[in-house]
Amino acid sequence: MDIKELIERMTIEEKAEQLTQVNSSLLNKKSIADITGPLSGLGLTFNQISGIGSTLNFSRVSDVIEIQENHLKIDQNSIPLLFMQDVIHGCCTVYPIPLAMGAAFSPELIKECAAMAARECVENGINVVFSPMVDMVRDARWGRVAESTGEDVYLNSLYAKAQVEGYHTQNVAVCVKHFAAYGAAEAGRDYNTVDMSEITLREYYLPAYKAALDAGADMVMTSFNLLNGVPAAANKKLVKGILRDEWGFDGVVISDYASFDEMMVHGIAENGFECAYKAMEATGDIEMVSLNYIRYLKELVESGKINMEQVNKAVERVLVLKQKLGLFDDPYINTKPKKKTLCKEHRAIAEKAAVKSAVLLKNDGVLPLSDSFKKIAVIGPFADTGDIIGAWHCYGNTNDAITVAAGIRSLLTAAEVHVEEGVGFEIGAQVDSKKLKAAVKLAKESEAVILAIGEPSSDSGEGTSKLNLDLSDGQYELLKAVVAANKNTTVLLFSGRPLTIKRFIDIAPAVLLMWHPGTEGGTAAAKLLFGRYSPEGKLPMSFPMSVGQCPIYYNRYNTGRPRTNNDIRSPYTSSYIDGSNLSLFPFGYGLSYTQFQYSEIKLSNNRLNDGDKITVSVKVKNVGKRSGVETVQLYIQDLVASVARPLRGLKGFKKVSLAPGESQTVEFAVDSEMLEFYNEDIIKSAEKGKFRAFVGTDSDTQNYAEFELV
Ligand code: GLC
Repeated sequence: MDIKELIERMTIEEKAEQLTQVNSSLLNKKSIADITGPLSGLGLTFNQISGIGSTLNFSRVSDVIEIQENHLKIDQNSIPLLFMQDVIHGCCTVYPIPLAMGAAFSPELIKECAAMAARECVENGINVVFSPMVDMVRDARWGRVAESTGEDVYLNSLYAKAQVEGYHTQNVAVCVKHFAAYGAAEAGRDYNTVDMSEITLREYYLPAYKAALDAGADMVMTSFNLLNGVPAAANKKLVKGILRDEWGFDGVVISDYASFDEMMVHGIAENGFECAYKAMEATGDIEMVSLNYIRYLKELVESGKINMEQVNKAVERVLVLKQKLGLFDDPYINTKPKKKTLCKEHRAIAEKAAVKSAVLLKNDGVLPLSDSFKKIAVIGPFADTGDIIGAWHCYGNTNDAITVAAGIRSLLTAAEVHVEEGVGFEIGAQVDSKKLKAAVKLAKESEAVILAIGEPSSDSGEGTSKLNLDLSDGQYELLKAVVAANKNTTVLLFSGRPLTIKRFIDIAPAVLLMWHPGTEGGTAAAKLLFGRYSPEGKLPMSFPMSVGQCPIYYNRYNTGRPRTNNDIRSPYTSSYIDGSNLSLFPFGYGLSYTQFQYSEIKLSNNRLNDGDKITVSVKVKNVGKRSGVETVQLYIQDLVASVARPLRGLKGFKKVSLAPGESQTVEFAVDSEMLEFYNEDIIKSAEKGKFRAFVGTDSDTQNYAEFELV
C-alpha cells in the first residue's frame, strides 16, 4: 500500500475519520446505516461518514469480525479499522495487577506475562493494547496506583521496557500511557491538577515513558490532567516539544477518553473548534471518542488556522501503523483460532506471577501452615470469590478464577475446608452478628484459619480515589473475634493499593499481601500458605502509617529539619506532632519464611574516576531453616550536590535463591552514569563529591559504604 498516494486521494472528511476513534458500542451488532448515538448528534449518519479510523471497548472477537466487515463495506478507501483494548494485566488469563507485578522485582516475569497476554490478543481481535501504564505513583489515595508498578522511577523504567518487549513478541502494537505525570494528581484525586518543577518531571515522571519508547512503543496516550497549567492533550510543550522534537517520537499519539472535549471544562478552549485546533497544534493524532476532528478539521484547514500538511502527517502516522500491523493485507489478522487463550500454560504463568508478587508483611511463626491440618477454616469476604482478578481485567472472568478456598481444596485433598464470609467488604460494612457467630464457631473448631480480607477490585482503578485507606470496622471486628477464637490465624490481604492497616498488623499473627492476584490467585495463595513456595515479594510502594502522610515515598529529600528520632512531637522538625512521618512498611520491604543476613559492604575502590566503574559487594547468607529468595537492593545517596538530592535512590537489585546455611556474594557495578541528575539548568550530569552505597533488604537499610566521584 502506497500510503502517500492513498493520502493524496483522500478527502479532508475521510482524513478526519482516520483520526477518530469511537466506542464499539456505537458499531456493535447494527448495520452502520442506522447507527444512532453521538455521531448522529452531528446531523451525520454513518452513510455520510464513510468510516472511522479505530474503535475500542469491543467485547468479543465475533464483534471485531462483524464491525470490520460492516466498516469495509462502506469505507470509500477500504482502510481497515484498528481495534484497541485495555489489556493492563492480561487479556483473558489475568495475572496480578501491575502494582503487584512491581513487587516481584522481576522485569523478566512481567515480560513473560505481557507475551502471554499478547498471545491471547491475537486470538481475540486486539491490534493495540492501551498498555503499559507507566505513571509513577506516590499517593495511595489515587485508585490507579493499581495499574502502576510503583513509586520508583528505576523499577518502573525497567518494567516499561520489559512490557513493551513482551507485547511485541506478537503482532500487537503498544500504547504507553498516560503521558504525562498523571500519577502525580494533587491530593490523590483522579483527573486532578498536576503541577511540578521541570527537575521533578524529568527526574522522576518522564523516564519510564522514555524507556517504553526506547523499547519501541508504537503509540502514546496523553493524560487527562493539567500539566503545569495546560491539559496534556493540548500541551504543545510536552507533546510536540518533548515527545516529538526532543525525543524524536514519530508514532501515533491518541487522546484519553474524550479529553479533547475536556479542554473546554479545563477552561483552555472556548469550543470544539478550539479543542481541535489546540490538539492538532500539539500534534495529537487520534481523538478518542469525542468528535472535534470530524466536526472541525475541514473548517480549520479552510480557515488557514492549520495546514493540510499537519493533517496529512497525522493520517500518515495512523496508516503507517495499520500497515505495520498487516491490516491492509489482512483486516482480520488478529482473529486467530483460540488455542492459547486460558490454556494450562498461561494459567501456570499467572500462578507463578501471583506467587512471586505476594509480600509477606508479618509472620510470628504461624506460617507456613502444615499439610497435616485436617480441618481448615477460610473466613472473610475473599474466602471463596473470583473477585480477586483486580480492576481493568479486560476479558478476564471472575468465574475463571481459582478462589482461595478452591486453591486450598485442590492442594490439600485430604483436608476439610470450610468457608464462612463473616462480613462483606463494602466500605463501612458492619458485622452481622449471625455471620460473625458462625465465623467464630468455625474458627474454634478448626486447626488453622485463613482470614481473607481486604479491598474489593471495584475499589481500585479509574475514578476510585479514597480519603480513607483503612479497612472497614467490620473486617477489623471479624479479625479480632477470629484471632481470639484461634491463635493459628493468618490474614490473606487482597488490595489494589497500599492500605493503612496498622491495627490489623498489630493483632494478626501473620499477614500475607496477595494484592489482586488474578485468575490463579487462589492457587498461588494456597501454595504459599502451605509452604510450597516462600514469599519473595518486596513492596513497590510505601505503606503509610496513616492517610495523612500521603503522598509518602522512600526517596524523599532530607529537608533542613528532618525528624531526629522516632518520637512524635519532635519540636521544630519536619515530623507531625500527632503521629510518625515514617511509613508502616517501606519501599522494598518484604519478609520470607527464612531469614537473610547481610555482611558489611566491600568496595573495589572508594574513589570512582569519571568514566570508570567500582564494584560494590555484599555477602548474603540464609540463616534460617527454609530455602528462600531474597531481592538484594542497591541504593545510592549523593551527599552534597548543586541541588538537593534524595536520601537515596534505587540503582540496582538482584534476586538470590539460597538454601538454609548457603551464602552468596552479590556484586553491583557502580559508574558515574548512575549518579547523574538534572541540575537547576536542566542539564543532566554527575557532580564530583561523596556518595553512599546502601545494600540491603529494603529501602530502610543502614548498611552502607562511602565512596567519592573524583
Ligand atoms: C480511560 C482510561 C485509559 C483507558 C481509556 C480507554 O478513561 O483513562 O487508561 O485506556 O479510557 O478505555
